[in-house]
Amino acid sequence: MGIVSKIKDAFDREKAPGKAASALEVDLHSHMLPGIDDGAKNLEDSLDLIERTIKPGVKKIITTPHIMFEFYRNTPEIIREKLEFVQEALQERGIQVELEAAAEYYLDDAFIGMVKNNEELLTFGDKMILIETNYIQSHPELLQVFFDLRIQGYNPVFAHPERYAYLTKPRDKETLAAYERIFNSGALFQLNLLSFTGYYGPQIKHTANLLLKEGMIHLVGSDAHKSEHVRMINKLKETKLFERIMDAGVLNNTL
Ligand SMILES: [Fe+2]
Repeated sequence: MGIVSKIKDAFDREKAPGKAASALEVDLHSHMLPGIDDGAKNLEDSLDLIERTIKPGVKKIITTPHIMFEFYRNTPEIIREKLEFVQEALQERGIQVELEAAAEYYLDDAFIGMVKNNEELLTFGDKMILIETNYIQSHPELLQVFFDLRIQGYNPVFAHPERYAYLTKPRDKETLAAYERIFNSGALFQLNLLSFTGYYGPQIKHTANLLLKEGMIHLVGSDAHKSEHVRMINKLKETKLFERIMDAGVLNNTL
């Protein structure tokens, strides 16, 4: 090999997707347990999503079924039972991956009640708890709930902040001010990788890039509900943008 191709080879390796420093090894937001929310419908769906996810090097999946009083009244028992069911199937088929489950809690009265009554909440990592809100309308108790959870020793994680229309203002400066109030409350920001692909539309893509630029990103997730989502994310993983996201210091691989 000549010197030029040697340098190019080294350069390509440096820039290659999935290089050690940029590989995402832990996915922490997805809907891969069968039949308990709007994600995987059955076991085959679950296994398909998991197999696609681990292809580019994901070693651990923390899947997060919805808990939402109006639509998905999941409990820790229901989630654990489904988790074990899928874990057994993975073992039977020799699929190598660490599968855990927590939940994505929707901020509603039922959730506020659970926090107030000190009920068991499903967490991951260092007592992290994933919370989403309505996409259109802000919730007056959002910061109070984050505060109460922190008092109880939890680390609230704000799911896909870039997706909430109520935080997006006509000007970036105003948008950032709205996000800063929440960011400064100590909640961790978990951005969806799909947002960077434009899957949810240009506005959400813009906000995701804005938050990335400002360093307002602690974690990333696939939020995968179906195979199309994982396909799009795997494509994103081959881009420079993905390297920039990983270089922003996301905490996924510490989980
Ligand atoms: Fe989700």
